[in-house]
Amino acid sequence: MTLRYVTTNPGKVREAEEYLDDVSALDYDYTEVQAPELGPIAAHGAREAYRHAGEPVIVDDAGLFVDALDGFPGPYSSYVEHTLGVELTGRVAREAAAAADGGDSDGDGEVARAAFRCVIGYCDGDDFAATPEPVDRGERRGQDLAADDRDSATTDAQVAGDDGSADLPVKLFEGVVPGRIVEPRGDGGFGYDPVFEHDGTTFAEMDATEKNAVSHRGRALAKFADWFAER
Ligand code: IMP
Repeated sequence: MTLRYVTTNPGKVREAEEYLDDVSALDYDYTEVQAPELGPIAAHGAREAYRHAGEPVIVDDAGLFVDALDGFPGPYSSYVEHTLGVELTGRVAREAAAAADGGDSDGDGEVARAAFRCVIGYCDGDDFAATPEPVDRGERRGQDLAADDRDSATTDAQVAGDDGSADLPVKLFEGVVPGRIVEPRGDGGFGYDPVFEHDGTTFAEMDATEKNAVSHRGRALAKFADWFAER
């Protein structure tokens, strides 16, 4: 059985092919639950996609975590990108860093310490009894949700999977790339790439190969591929 990467983004599958011999895209619109961490979101998606596909799946969830904003926008990065926008989010991050001890000065002004994080969730119906943690077993049942989320449309039952899917364990792999939020530079990439600087270069100034070599998704994929090769 082939491994399916559940995504509508062909770029992600091309990136995964650099780490995995046999992976193909599965275009399936799984429910993106709201939660304050990436892990439960990827786990819920992987469970739902596995139930749909009946073959091994990976699902990823990613976001930008700004130190001076206590990790915000994090799992809400897509929403914030499409509401506040990248430039304004970057400015808010740098001003918050200037007001607190969350940044450095680079000569051109304040920059904010941040990280991109990506969590890959893998599900094939197995219970991973012999593998190291973290494995999401759906036991959170919503208690980790922010109070606001609990009162909103996302119910505990949805997070847990009221169809019994919560019992399907999902193995999680996290990749993190540290960086700094700077004034926008470069016109490649997508999302927050122009304001995210890693080792002196923004992600938007890198070509795809350079970015993939250091990116949060690349790091999570590398961890997953190592483990999957032993499986
Ligand atoms: P996704 O989970 O990969 O869809 O990412 C969620 C959101 O995080 C995206 O809509 C972007 O706002 C942001 N994001 C994730 N990865 C990246 C990246 O590599 N560059 C820029 N923005 C990213």
